[in-house]
Amino acid sequence: MATRPPDDVRSVRPGGFFCGGDVFKLWKAGALALALAGAAAPAAAETVRIGVVNTFTGAQAIFGEYTDKAARLYIKLHQAELPAGVQIELINRDDGGPNPDRAKQLAQELIVRDKVNLLMGAAFTPVALAIAPLATEAKIPFVVTNAGTSIVTTRSPYIARVSFTLWQSVYPLGQWAAKRFKRVYVLVSDYGPGYDAEEAFGRSFKEGGGDIVGSARTPLMNPDFAPFMQRVKDLKPDALMVFMPSGKTVVSMMKSYNELGLAQAGIKLIGPGDIVQDDELAGMGEAAVGTVTVQHYSAAADRPANKAFVEAWKKEYGPALVPNFIAVAGWDAMAMIFDALRAQNGRIDPEATMEAFKHFRNPDSPRGPISIDPATRDIVQNEYLREVRKVGSQYVNVELETVATALKDPGKELKKP
Ligand code: PHB
Repeated sequence: MATRPPDDVRSVRPGGFFCGGDVFKLWKAGALALALAGAAAPAAAETVRIGVVNTFTGAQAIFGEYTDKAARLYIKLHQAELPAGVQIELINRDDGGPNPDRAKQLAQELIVRDKVNLLMGAAFTPVALAIAPLATEAKIPFVVTNAGTSIVTTRSPYIARVSFTLWQSVYPLGQWAAKRFKRVYVLVSDYGPGYDAEEAFGRSFKEGGGDIVGSARTPLMNPDFAPFMQRVKDLKPDALMVFMPSGKTVVSMMKSYNELGLAQAGIKLIGPGDIVQDDELAGMGEAAVGTVTVQHYSAAADRPANKAFVEAWKKEYGPALVPNFIAVAGWDAMAMIFDALRAQNGRIDPEATMEAFKHFRNPDSPRGPISIDPATRDIVQNEYLREVRKVGSQYVNVELETVATALKDPGKELKKP
């Protein structure tokens, strides 16, 4: 079982080798722009260096860990499909969470010192937004593996996003909810993807005749959910629509929803799949059963490509570890990068890479057919309605129906300017 830790998370501690002040001095001297531009020269790369900025520690450490595990598994299983002699090196850096300043510094170091050919990662929207201008300046393609606010891809022509947007999951969720519920309360994390979830749900749910009886925004880090849940309980809506970033935050939200007796009061919990991430279901247990969500990936999906993916994952990392939407993003990111490398015979030219990304399609991803929309560089994918159920001894997201097929980011068309 290969559970090697991410490459050099150990090297990013404050004051550590990779946090030295020389990049800052370069920046102050006005030389960083030159250094960034110099980094853009197409490399006849024997080793393709991918600089990863992701979250490896703290409440959302699952993002770094699972993206990395999936990317390494893809490389291991598909190495033979690369042009002869080409190797991939993943250089991991830990932003520790939604810390844009830190992420920016790490990306600068990856570009200037490590001379990476590609950037990858960004669990959080503020991190993606902080790195975007550097990708543009240095002309380094940046594969976003999570950050789900609609605007992210508009911030640099060098971004391609293999994850999702909140609009993709929550807009169809609102359409579905309008057919079942009259009154819904909306609770979201107080930042970009939360606002998108709020707007997307409000839009489709109200268009379908539903009524939003109240809404609140909770702090992104360490929120105390009890007062929010009490207020929802008092209002007695038919359902509570929640978006929070996956990780420990949603686990405590779920705990609070149950402790305050909202399920018993008949208030159905619904949301994007982030709130019932596959790997967290075992820990949530009975508390999560009955939660209805919309998302693009479930480890329990019976598509043959998913069965093969889950089997390979468990063979590599052990039967107790369940892949999730974070893992599938790491997997598909690597599939897209391999595709671009084959198209350039192992080289990474920034413009040719972006062209290849824009035309990437895979009819057989574990999540179903996917492609990149060349106009927005966002992923186009199916969205599935799912419910948490106990199947045998496992808690899983059972896919009930496909609620959207080949869906582009609806936010790009519908979001308020
Ligand atoms: C984001 O910051 O865009 C984000 C983070 C975690 C999620 C979804 C979106 O689960």
